[in-house]
Amino acid sequence: MSIHIGDIAPNFTIDTTKGEIDFHKWSGDSWVFFFSHPADFTPVCTTEMGRTAQLAAEFAARNTKPLGLSTDTVAEHLKWIDDVNDTQHTDLQFPIVADADLTISKLYDMIHPSESATQAVRSVFIIDPQKKIRLTLTYPMNVGRNFDEILRVIDALQLADAQSVATPADWKPGDKVIIPPSIDNEKAAKLFPQGWEEIRPYLRLTKAD
Ligand code: BEZ
Repeated sequence: MSIHIGDIAPNFTIDTTKGEIDFHKWSGDSWVFFFSHPADFTPVCTTEMGRTAQLAAEFAARNTKPLGLSTDTVAEHLKWIDDVNDTQHTDLQFPIVADADLTISKLYDMIHPSESATQAVRSVFIIDPQKKIRLTLTYPMNVGRNFDEILRVIDALQLADAQSVATPADWKPGDKVIIPPSIDNEKAAKLFPQGWEEIRPYLRLTKAD
C-alpha cells in the first residue's frame, strides 16, 4: 500500500517494547515521528535509535512522540535497547514496534523488494494530531538519517499550520518565511501586519512571529 501526504495514517494494533498499542489512541493529541529500521543489532540502526533517544527533550518540546519499528520481536528489541543505551550513552524510552512478520512494514510500504524482501528500509512518516500524514522520507539501509532535518521539518510544519506561511529552501527557525501565493495582498495585510518584502508578486518574504 502506498502512503501519500494528506492520507490518514492507517491505524494498527501491535506489540511494542512498551506493551500493546492502538496507534491512533496512543498518538492522542500529539504529532508522531514514525520511523522504520531493517533489523536489531545493526550498526546504522543502533546510532539512529540512540540519536532519537538523546533528542527526547527536543521531540517533547515539539509535542511529538517518536515511534520506532524494526522487523524483529519485542524480546529482541528489549535486548537491543540495552546495547543502544550502552553504546550511544542514552536512555531509550520511546516504544519500538515489533514487526517480525512485516504486517506494519507492508501496511506502510516500508518493504522495498529491490533493497530487501524481508527487512524494512528507513522510512519516516511525520503525522499530525489529526492523524494526517504530513511528510514522508525514505532512506536506503546503508545511509543513516539526519535528525537535525527531522526536527527542522517538524518545526516548519508546525509554523506553517500556526501562521499560514510556507518555508523557503534551507529554512531554519528564525529565518524569514514565505507568504503563499494563495493569500492575496489584501488578506496578507491583515495576516502579516509586520509587512513583507516583495521580490516578485509570487515571492513575498516576511518575519514569522
Ligand atoms: C545497519 O543498520 O547498519 C544496516 C542494517 C541493514 C542493512 C544494512 C545496514
